[in-house]
Amino acid sequence: MTASSRHGLFISVEGGDGAGKTTQLGLLRDWLSGPGSPLRYPPVFTREPGGTQLGAAVRETLLHSEHVDPRAEALLYAGDRAHHVATVVRPALERGEVVITDRYLDSSIAYQGSRGELSPTDIEEISLWATQGLMPDITVLLDISAADARARRLAGRGETEDRIEAAGDDFHESVRQVFRERAAAEPHRWRVIDASRSVEEVFSALKLVFTTEIEKWAERP
Ligand code: TYD
Repeated sequence: MTASSRHGLFISVEGGDGAGKTTQLGLLRDWLSGPGSPLRYPPVFTREPGGTQLGAAVRETLLHSEHVDPRAEALLYAGDRAHHVATVVRPALERGEVVITDRYLDSSIAYQGSRGELSPTDIEEISLWATQGLMPDITVLLDISAADARARRLAGRGETEDRIEAAGDDFHESVRQVFRERAAAEPHRWRVIDASRSVEEVFSALKLVFTTEIEKWAERP
């Protein structure tokens, strides 16, 4: 497989705060950059918010300021996404690379859409405008209940939660339900993994998803 002979593969990884996304993405990065990787070239690993210099500033502002007006918040995430897609994601896909992003548009719909202040359809439309319609080929959901996720966050990090992490279980459970509903509505794009299991079990499920999708991509004409 050559990296430049076809359009790249775009995969997003989603999940609530405390689903274990950071741990799993670290394992994925080691595997896909190491000798056991099914890829010839390491993938591009990136994240939202924060995959660019602008994104890092947006991340700092959004996660650590006290209150941001909901419309301003939605536009800032969409602005970060527009710049991220234009400068990192799309160029890499055009070079034929595999791009793995820690969160994408579904996070905006799940998080900004779960407070009841904004319409999920508006949020989706703003993001689609921002990205000129770019959607992931595959979205992996690390699915976990709000209560299990909170227990993990507290065990892992003690007191230091950011503004969003500190929102209550009801909010985090609605975020989860939005992800699950979107996964059920678009099964060709989503792969749902039960993230309440051990790190090893979740990672072996994740490896299976990535191996299968990379093989399918490699066979595309
Ligand atoms: P994450 O990267 O999972 O956090 P951390 O690295 O601190 O564990 O996510 C950052 C937070 O940003 C998370 O609480 C969800 C939120 N978020 C939104 O609310 N909307 C969005 O569009 C995105 C991309 C993230």
